[in-house]
Formats: sequence, C-alpha cells, structure tokens
Amino acid sequence: METKVLEPNAAGLGEAGEIIRRGGLVAFPTETVYGLGANALSAEAVAKIYEAKGRPRFDPIIVHVSSPREAEGLWSQVPPLARKLMERFWPGPLTLVLPKKGIVPDIVTAGLPTVAIRMPDHPVALGLIRAAGVPVAAPSANRFGRPSPTHHQHVLEELAGRIDAVLACGDTPVGIESTVLSLVENPPRVLRLGGTPLEALRELVGELKVEPFVGRSASPGTLRRHYVPSTPLFLLEPGRPEPTWNPMPRSRCGLLAFRSPKLGFGRVEVLSPEGDLRQAAARFFSLLRLLDSLGFSALVAEPVPEEGLGLAIMDRLKRAAVGRARLDTDEVWLIRD
Ligand code: TXA
Ligand code: MG
Repeated sequence: METKVLEPNAAGLGEAGEIIRRGGLVAFPTETVYGLGANALSAEAVAKIYEAKGRPRFDPIIVHVSSPREAEGLWSQVPPLARKLMERFWPGPLTLVLPKKGIVPDIVTAGLPTVAIRMPDHPVALGLIRAAGVPVAAPSANRFGRPSPTHHQHVLEELAGRIDAVLACGDTPVGIESTVLSLVENPPRVLRLGGTPLEALRELVGELKVEPFVGRSASPGTLRRHYVPSTPLFLLEPGRPEPTWNPMPRSRCGLLAFRSPKLGFGRVEVLSPEGDLRQAAARFFSLLRLLDSLGFSALVAEPVPEEGLGLAIMDRLKRAAVGRARLDTDEVWLIRD
C-alpha cells in the first residue's frame, strides 16, 4: 500500500479520521512520540497495528481520547482519584489504567481486564480523535524493538508502505512516552516512568509504588500482567501419545482450533475458517476468554502458522500453556511440562 503523507490541516484531519473510521491505520503526532492509530473499538483494525509493527507478541495498547468524559465511557469504574488526576494532568503525558468496559476489545488490552487511557496534549492528535469520532488505540509508531519516533520522517523510515497515512507535523515536543499509572492497586503503581514526573504525581496521589525501573525502552511483556486462562491450557502437537501421558475424554476439554473444528470436544471455537491470521488475531483473546469461562477441565489450543500475526498468537499460546496435548480417537492425552 502507498502511505499518504497528510498535512495537519482540516482536510488532512478529515481524511485521516475517515481512514480510522473505515478500519485503517494512521500515524499521528502526540506531545510525547508519534502513535500508530486504529479504531480502538474494532478488533480487526487493532490487529492491523500488530501486523504493521511486526510485533511478535501481543502487548496491551494505550487508548487515546479527546476528553475525560470519553475515557469514562470506556472504563467500568472511575474512582474519585482518577477524576482528580484527569483534571490536573489531562491533556498530557499521563496514562491511567482502570478496569475496562465490554466494548473495549480484548486485543486492545492483550486480554487484560483493564484498559490504559490517555488524552494527549497535541492539537493534531485531538483533532484526529474528534474527526474519527471513535477512541484511537495507538502504540508508538515504530517497528518492533526500535526506538519510538519523534518526527514524521522516522515514522516513514519505519512504516512507509505498511500503513495508510501519516500526519506530518515535524518534531514532537516531549519526546519520551507517557507515564503509565495503574489505579487498580492501592497504593497506585507506576508501571512506566515517562513524561509526567513522579514528584508531580506524588503531590496529588500521596503514596505511590514504582515498578522496578523499566525506563523508556523496556519491554512491556516483562510486566507479567498478561491474561492467563484459569483453565489449564495445553498446546496441541502432532504425534501418537506415549503411555506416560494422562488421558482425558474430549468432552471435558474445550478446543481453540485454527481453521476447522475437531469432533468430540465439549466446545470448539475456530479462530479463522479462512486461515486468515489477522482475523485469528482479532478473535484470539475473546475466544480464549470465552472457552476459559465454561468450566472445562482443560483447554487445548491448536498451533497456528508462525508467520505474520501468527508469531504473536503463538508467543501468547506458548507463554499461557502449562503443557502439551495429543489427540487420540476420543481422548485427549495431556502432559504437563
Ligand atoms: O506516550 C505514549 O504513551 C505513546 C503515545 C503514542 O501515546 N504510546 C506508547 O505506547 O508509548 P506503547 O505501546 O509503546 O506503550 C504502552 C505502555 C506499555 O508499557 C504497556 O505495557 C502499557 O502502556 N499498558 C498499556 N495497557 C496497559 C494495561 N491495561 N495495563 C498495564 N499496562 C498497560
Ligand atoms: Mg513503544
């Protein structure tokens, strides 16, 4: 695809908003760094972010809003402290983490029950969110493992040909990412140090916990806050079961299949009948959560091809799995690793 370079005027913002609404990707400036934006309410659109960045795993993504009120529509609980923080620090480089509402797709939060939201302090970012008419999910607009871009030229070097458009605004004023503060713990915990200084937060919040220093380039995957199913999950591998494995009737297991169902399972959910990895990624977290809620003794996940978004799906499955499974005619053989 050709990446359009849009001027940050009314026409450019209108076109960018339209692209987001239609499920495309637009890179845009914020006061911290450039973000790679997609409609936060569409799992398919958010899946494209992972594809464009070449992220080999799912990490939770910050949702950008144009007012505190819009944030309150996405969180299921808003304590008074959150309101005070929004009043004092928004718009600005402070991201707040609180429990999410059901309308926020699981792929945005990598399966977490919480969603991180901020209101950026940049007229073009706010103009884009308003033009789109939806909240905008956006990680930093770099390829996986590369530094965050602070100029639209960096964005083009990283992502030209992989995204629909970039709003060209030159340098971003703050240059380091937002501070991420979780309000689901008491005292609140800083998950990432960033553009809002700790001292300023302490003045309003009082006692704060600070995650062991993570700095600006830390891997979010190290935060260990990813969704792990409560039903033991086994990764399906080919081959005949050996005698040391434990048999379990298929009916007591739920299967997360890639393209096609298998017989005998208590429940089967198929990620993508067409074998489309983007669709599979978009559906992955919600189907896993659904299977996890049904009270099975074990969940079995079929591997997906380890290419494109399949790498991120497999990374997630491997980290969530407690062992391996093989299939017999009407039994599943389970071994814990
Ligand atoms: O300044 C910024 O925050 C930039 C601009 C574009 O807004 N965005 C950014 O996004 O740096 P990203 O994806 O590179 O980093 C998001 C951080 C990660 O450390 C991630 O783990 C954390 O936010 N995060 C997102 N959602 C979370 C959640 N529900 N719970 C805990 N941490 C979360
Ligand atoms: Mg980043």
